[in-house]
Amino acid sequence: METDFTDKDTYQDLFDPEGYLDTYYNPKSGLLVVDGFLDFVLRKLHDAFCRRGVKGKTLIDIGHGPTIYQDLSACESFDEIIGADYTDVNRKYYERSLRNEPGTFNWDAVIQKVCDMEGKGMSVEEKKKKLENTVKKTLKCDVLQKNPLEPLVLPKVDCVMSIGCLECACSDLDTYRNVLKNVSTLLKIGGYIIISEILNCSSYLSGGKRFSCLVLTEEFMRSAIAETGFEIVDLEVIYRKYDKDQYEICNHDSSLFVLARKVKDVK
Ligand SMILES: C[S@@+](CC[C@H](N)C(=O)[O-])C[C@H]1O[C@@H](n2cnc3c(N)ncnc32)[C@H](O)[C@@H]1O
Repeated sequence: METDFTDKDTYQDLFDPEGYLDTYYNPKSGLLVVDGFLDFVLRKLHDAFCRRGVKGKTLIDIGHGPTIYQDLSACESFDEIIGADYTDVNRKYYERSLRNEPGTFNWDAVIQKVCDMEGKGMSVEEKKKKLENTVKKTLKCDVLQKNPLEPLVLPKVDCVMSIGCLECACSDLDTYRNVLKNVSTLLKIGGYIIISEILNCSSYLSGGKRFSCLVLTEEFMRSAIAETGFEIVDLEVIYRKYDKDQYEICNHDSSLFVLARKVKDVK
């Protein structure tokens, strides 16, 4: 299941938010629901923000795609969340989902799960409002640029989070290392980076189109993160059962979540 590298322009021209959401997050058949990734990431994000106390003024969610689940715990710990993604349709879909517009993907069961984990008795509707009020905007961004938000220069933030994006944006491991440096420039020293990636995946199907994925391993991620001036606070990998049909859609064998603290700038 090799495919040529699908660059950011392929995302811009061909990515279908609805096809992606149905294949990966459909509550019954979604590949990342069935393989446990979604529950894993929700648990780890809750742990980072609510138990480990990662908090602050601003969090940037890079490569959010058309999903909002990743911001549900963060909106309790940050005054503002800024979204950032290269693809226009994904930024539009993300904004429409935040406004809870009719016809957008229904995240209610996921939102309920996060409210239950938080245990504060918040209703799904209250959580949706909280999220809508906390995500202030979403910006065009290209992680391949030294300043991913160019031409904007933002004050450095307390947390940068990127879930399932960087392995899509990079054609090779050296580029991945550079991209980590690029996103690190957005962060204050002492701030946190949160990255979650699928591992050992070479491609995935979405909306009838096959996209390339950079093959990552836990070992590479540990060294690349440390080399970029981060101290790893928490890193966990979960494994996925082999299933031929599911692997034909997306062939990762595991998923990784990492929380790391920026200790220095690396040129
Ligand atoms: C698999 S999708 C999004 C995943 C989503 N965060 C999730 O958790 O399901 C990958 C995202 O990476 C974004 N992307 C690809 N190349 C990029 C680049 N060079 N800079 C910023 N975003 C990029 C795409 O636009 C897309 O929204």
